[in-house]
Amino acid sequence: MSQQFIDRRKFMQLGVGTAALGLAGKVTALEPARLWAAARAVPPSDMVRFAAIGTGVRGCEVLQATRLSRGVECVATCDVYDTRRISAREALGGKEMAFTRDYREILDREDIDAVIIAAPDHQHRPIAMAACEAGKDVYCEKPMSHTVEDGFAMVKAARKHGRILQVGSQRVSSIVYAKAKEIYQSGALGQVTMIEAHWDRNTPGGAWVVPIPPDANEKTIDWPRFLGEAPKRPYDPIRYASWRRFTDYGLGLAGDLFVHMISGIHFITGTAAPPRSAESAGGLFRWTEAREFPDLLLTLFEDPNFRVSLRCNQNNESGEYLAFFGTQGTLEIKDTVSMPAFGFGAAGGLRSPVVTFRPQDTRPAPEGYSVFGWPKAMREEYIRSFRAEHPAAEPLQSQVDREAESFLPPPGYSDVPDHVANFFNSVRTRKPPVENEEFGNNAALGCHLANFAYFQKTVAKWDPEARKITGT
Ligand SMILES: NC(=O)c1ccc[n+]([C@@H]2O[C@H](COP(=O)([O-])OP(=O)(O)OC[C@H]3O[C@@H](n4cnc5c(N)ncnc54)[C@H](O)[C@@H]3O)[C@@H](O)[C@H]2O)c1
Repeated sequence: MSQQFIDRRKFMQLGVGTAALGLAGKVTALEPARLWAAARAVPPSDMVRFAAIGTGVRGCEVLQATRLSRGVECVATCDVYDTRRISAREALGGKEMAFTRDYREILDREDIDAVIIAAPDHQHRPIAMAACEAGKDVYCEKPMSHTVEDGFAMVKAARKHGRILQVGSQRVSSIVYAKAKEIYQSGALGQVTMIEAHWDRNTPGGAWVVPIPPDANEKTIDWPRFLGEAPKRPYDPIRYASWRRFTDYGLGLAGDLFVHMISGIHFITGTAAPPRSAESAGGLFRWTEAREFPDLLLTLFEDPNFRVSLRCNQNNESGEYLAFFGTQGTLEIKDTVSMPAFGFGAAGGLRSPVVTFRPQDTRPAPEGYSVFGWPKAMREEYIRSFRAEHPAAEPLQSQVDREAESFLPPPGYSDVPDHVANFFNSVRTRKPPVENEEFGNNAALGCHLANFAYFQKTVAKWDPEARKITGT
């Protein structure tokens, strides 16, 4: 199979040096974690046998990534659209295996330890709960839940049946986010009161205008199974292919993209609770065909320690950006450059996140502008006594002596194999996964708060006792 990373020499041949990336200061290359490359062969007794339920775009990406994990074997795939059997086979490098339209057949098999659920959001709760009840560990794609109630039911099921449940926001397994977390947790930023992120894209696919597969029809697609518990309606290929546009199946921009940003923020800051409240704005400006969600969404979240501002815009290509603003420095994760697709990754692997820390000059300095209205003699006396009270900081005493530093993942790095490997490691060790049901639920609650605020035109408040969102 193809290599996940290209080597440094090839990277340089591409001309993607650090200057070309527009990075100032010191640049350090991050080492891949390679969690998936076990040092020794895994004995057959430790083999994890799994199945994939939902093998569309994401299911295939995750299946492809499983091929880098040692000691795991995909033994069955399931999808309500027959052609996905071929897609899954291709993602697995041509391996033929059992295929079914009915996920219950998978859950009935005793030789299956775990399932990957990459069906649309409205299917996460019913499939994940049935999987937990059947004794399977679960890798469930993000957003974990389609409703507030779904999320708590999934948490309960995972705990009741003692199952590993990992949610699929892969940034929490990224070496870039791990570096950002290390810097954040070191205290180098001082007090962080503001966090800002955006993820903007400007393509039909990015706005969920998905081509309908040429062979899609009621014979090849099991429409009632696609609907599941969603309201019954006649077969609709647009709803099938572009389900993210409709409230019955998806959560719009909040569930598609905010969830990644919230998960990343929770991971880096060590937050273990949903936001306290959310205020949203935005609108539907351009992609007005059959859709129930806005194409621009802005939300301001309240967390006890900081405020978070998120934006997703389907009408501009500004990429992905996340920044933590502290009293002593700024930490940024930014898509610095588009590179050719090597391996896995969102939007065909064009994403190249770089984490940068910029310290701020916090040495004591006399006021300038604010004493401008003082008479000259008074000003000079103020500056003289300030200097006497604040001798110049010794070198290396202050943050300012640290230059900006960027950390670069290997070219073509993808966090998906790392996230998948983390899941399988948890399945094997029974240690809680990096993104367990509680973490996934908290992140999804942030999405529900954002949508509630947008659609109800209110400040959405989280009531932890009642486990409900209320308006003001
Ligand atoms: N982590 C990420 O970066 C990431 C990226 C993309 C999608 N996702 C998530 O993955 C999930 C799937 O998204 P996608 O882009 O692959 O959508 P998709 O439409 O390409 O694929 C979904 C597949 O699920 C199948 N399906 C629907 N109902 C089913 C059922 N009851 N049983 C079995 N299969 C069923 C569909 O036929 C389809 O093949 C969503 O929850 C989405 O939010 C996550």
